[in-house]
Amino acid sequence: MTAIGTARPADATALRAAFAVFAVAGLVGALFRFVVAYGWSVGLDPVNVRHAHSHLMYFGWATPALFVLLGMRAVGGGSRPVPARLLAWTLGLAVVTGLAFLPWGYEPAQFGPARVPVTIILSTLCMVTWYAWVAWYRSARRSLVDATLRPLVDAAAAFLALSTLGAWSVVAMVPFGGAGDTLKLAFAHFFLQVFSEGWFTLGLLTLAWSRLPDRVRVPGWALAAAGLGILVGFLLSLPSTALPLGGRVLARIAGVSHGVGIVALAWTWWRSAPASARSSWGLPVLLLAAKGATQVLAVGLPGPWWADMATVRVLYLHLLLLGFVSLGIAAETLSGAWLRMFQAVCLSVVASLVPFTALWPFAPPGMAAFEAAAWISVLPPLVAAAALVGGRVRAV
Ligand code: HEM
Repeated sequence: MTAIGTARPADATALRAAFAVFAVAGLVGALFRFVVAYGWSVGLDPVNVRHAHSHLMYFGWATPALFVLLGMRAVGGGSRPVPARLLAWTLGLAVVTGLAFLPWGYEPAQFGPARVPVTIILSTLCMVTWYAWVAWYRSARRSLVDATLRPLVDAAAAFLALSTLGAWSVVAMVPFGGAGDTLKLAFAHFFLQVFSEGWFTLGLLTLAWSRLPDRVRVPGWALAAAGLGILVGFLLSLPSTALPLGGRVLARIAGVSHGVGIVALAWTWWRSAPASARSSWGLPVLLLAAKGATQVLAVGLPGPWWADMATVRVLYLHLLLLGFVSLGIAAETLSGAWLRMFQAVCLSVVASLVPFTALWPFAPPGMAAFEAAAWISVLPPLVAAAALVGGRVRAV
């Protein structure tokens, strides 16, 4: 096994804080579901609620948890810890940013005569903390990162830095207003794709790999195939009308390449994993493989264009973000019955989304399904909060 460090007090606090953010972000997501199911009017634009949820989850849950866990598992077994101040800034800014989306969304806030783009300013400050982590990683990688893990963690860190190009480009387009909307959409999807499929997925795979016996090499071709798809696959999220035929073919090839690479990485892990690793990581890795296979089928076979399947996209995203990313973090921080309970409730949320997609083979669901989905969505934040209060969140 590669070196595995124990949590310093600052790491343990940051992991618990990330769990608290997960609970809040999950409740914000659940609020969206109650608004849809019961028509609640909470005085907030549902689009802003969705943005608050996704930003809290991305910036305040998965990113700081990965900062800490990669520091402990991949970078010299924690011998060169991530600076505590960096963790505090990452979490603090993420919480303020996520909550600021509730009243303002992407609209500028009115302070007297001034219109201030609060959430854009805060989001760009969050990116500064990511650069600081990448700089910290760069300074430690040569001497401290196990050679087996290096391709994965190098790629994850590179994708984190690269994703911000998309975000900066969106900001640079703001003065152009409505002009260049398609380009703005392309930059936004580049950011989302590279951040979630590059940084999160490869970062989490690094943690899973750190549980394998020594010298299980990461298959280079699979990482390259996935990497190509991660970089180009954002084209799949643009409306089909925005791309010429050549662009649509390229996007489909990238999607298939991405899916094949991910399935091959998951398979290599599975073949080599000892029973102890499979008991915690087996489920998230299986869900990752399912995501990769879905992707190959959905974009490789002739059929509807990916961006036109909005409900399937929400299901796919949660299969990745809840099924792999969040359960992967849980595999490193929860154990025993708490891990099983967290897995069960997260899977229930993913399953509750199926009836709203074109994959549902029966009659379209009635209001009861929306109401059930709303109530189920409260469970993961409640289990996370209970684990936190019960002192069950610790690096395992
Ligand atoms: C804790 C359980 C979760 C619940 C109850 C939940 C709920 C929701 C809901 C209701 C939506 C809006 C869906 C729609 O527009 O129809 C949503 C969207 C989204 N969620 Fe979650 N979610 C959860 C976990 C997560 C996690 C762990 C992440 C990321 C790490 C995440 C990231 C996102 C993103 C990025 C979107 C926006 C999708 C889009 O582009 O439309 N969610 N979620």
